[in-house]
Amino acid sequence: MPEPTVAIEIDRLSKVYPGGNRALSDFSLAVDAGEIFGFLGPNGAGKTTTIKILLGFMPPTSGTVRVLGGDPRLPETRRRIGYLPEVANYYGYMTVDELLRYYGRLCGMSRDAIRKRTDELLELVGLADVRRRQLKHFSKGMLQRAGIAQALLHDPDLLILDEPMTGLDPPARLQMRDIILRQKQQGKTVFFSSHELSEAELICDRVGILKAGCTVWCGPTNEVTGDGAGNLERIFLNMIRQNESEQQK
Ligand SMILES: Nc1ncnc2c1ncn2[C@@H]1O[C@H](COP(=O)(O)OP(=O)(O)OP(=O)(O)O)[C@@H](O)[C@H]1O
Ligand SMILES: [Mg+2]
Repeated sequence: MPEPTVAIEIDRLSKVYPGGNRALSDFSLAVDAGEIFGFLGPNGAGKTTTIKILLGFMPPTSGTVRVLGGDPRLPETRRRIGYLPEVANYYGYMTVDELLRYYGRLCGMSRDAIRKRTDELLELVGLADVRRRQLKHFSKGMLQRAGIAQALLHDPDLLILDEPMTGLDPPARLQMRDIILRQKQQGKTVFFSSHELSEAELICDRVGILKAGCTVWCGPTNEVTGDGAGNLERIFLNMIRQNESEQQK
């Protein structure tokens, strides 16, 4: 079967949480295979909710999602997705070595492949020296780095990262940027949520701005930024405010 050219298809997605919180309202979006897509929006806009639905962790109230041409709840689709959660929730007694071995086995990787990939990734994210330290003794940024290694472990075709830059120091941010760009060079798709507009401006092919569960803007990064660095921040704030004043009318 030919590879789908659309990596993520979100069609008229709505989510109302039990208790009545509406997180998404009839929201549609398509992300092409091979692109870096920045999913932006203020706190509470619905980014994490969208990501959890894209991963099949929870059902939408209405609407549909397709990921890499399939249903994200199917193991064959899940195996092709790497995911970095917004908040790391790992077993504290595990070391990062054990964490990667555990995830590798879940993905069906061989023992040798896990060992080889773990060595490479721990070097890449700068955790090789602390690979035998328990995760409960890791700093926030170290946990974030462990999460990135875990997301990349099985060489996924699609990376879904929920705020990948959070907690990272400047060198680690630079590394994160390189990792994302390298994924694209290898033909992979990267979909990440972020508040770091300057980072998004630097690396995204397209950005989507979400506000109160609806898209307020979506398009090529250069269209939104023009040629001035820092423009995305200004445009982001304008769009959010514009949308607020339209809603008040
Ligand atoms: N488990 C939950 N139960 C009820 N309401 C929820 C739950 N999780 C999120 N919400 C609500 O859904 C809306 C969207 O939240 P979500 O976490 O998706 O936003 P976000 O864009 O990821 O925000 P942030 O930038 O702060 O991470 C918010 O109004 C939030 O209060
Ligand atoms: Mg979030």
